[in-house]
Amino acid sequence: MIQGIFPVVKAGTQNDNCFEITFKAPDMAKEAKVGQFVHILCDGKTLRRPISICRIDKAEGTLRIVFEKRGEGTAWLSKCKEGDELDILGPLGNGFPLCDTNKNVLVVGGGIGVPPLLGIADFAADGCDAVLGFRDRDHLCLIDDFKSVAGNVFVMTDDGSFGEKGFVTERVRALVSEKAYDAVYACGPSPMLKAVSALAAEKGIDCYISLEERMGCGIGACLVCACKIKTADGEKYLHVCKDGPVFKASEVIW
Ligand SMILES: Cc1cc2nc3c(=O)[nH]c(=O)nc-3n(C[C@H](O)[C@H](O)[C@H](O)COP(=O)(O)OP(=O)(O)OC[C@H]3O[C@@H](n4cnc5c(N)ncnc54)[C@H](O)[C@@H]3O)c2cc1C
Ligand code: FES
Repeated sequence: MIQGIFPVVKAGTQNDNCFEITFKAPDMAKEAKVGQFVHILCDGKTLRRPISICRIDKAEGTLRIVFEKRGEGTAWLSKCKEGDELDILGPLGNGFPLCDTNKNVLVVGGGIGVPPLLGIADFAADGCDAVLGFRDRDHLCLIDDFKSVAGNVFVMTDDGSFGEKGFVTERVRALVSEKAYDAVYACGPSPMLKAVSALAAEKGIDCYISLEERMGCGIGACLVCACKIKTADGEKYLHVCKDGPVFKASEVIW
């Protein structure tokens, strides 16, 4: 884990409320794994804001994040531009377990749960099918990035204003019935994660999900982010920040 002040090398937008920043942090990029997150100090805030790593470029020594403006912290972050400097701690948490031999994978993202999955498409390339769901065409993000690396990309919108109308689970149900996937990786709202986990379980496919909990310290010290996980002896509370945010879907107690 590294903490430092890092320069923004690129800043832009994905849609009216969704922003992206690429910052240069060669040592952090070297250490980072797909699915981990960074903790960013936003002006005037005591608590850092957790944002997933969207893309790691180890050769360039850069990390890319994509985030929605929700409250004051992300509103401040959305105004950052090239040349600004950010105080960042990371990489934090555990990433997705990517196996070299498991390259036939399905990623399922909902809304702002889409960004952390791009690294899986980078890794599995043609072997990756992606189902990406958004509220409507005004909330799309990263479609072209996924299309440039993944095998098949299915875009769903709740209102049918772009791609197919409906929830991601409808497409996922069809795909897991047609094709033998080695693993499913998902990130998004809890009801979506629960439904995708159940569909993967029905087909006996390993499924890994990235959970989002309100966070304080981000390093396992404050207990804000507890979640209940099944263990061999019953169940116990783990930290989403330190033990997650990625968990095996079959171990999560909803
Ligand atoms: C592991 C992880 C990865 C995340 N990755 C992304 C991402 O890639 N893109 C993205 O847009 N958002 C992501 N989020 C959500 C993001 O952290 C919140 O939107 C952000 O912290 C809101 O801060 P704010 O100051 O704008 O809002 P406020 O509501 O003013 O924040 C107040 C406090 O609540 C915390 N908080 C508020 N919402 C959340 C939330 N949903 N999750 C955790 N803490 C929250 C803030 O950190 C802060 O301490 C992630 C959250 C977690 C836990
Ligand atoms: S955020 Fe403090 S323990 Fe997880």
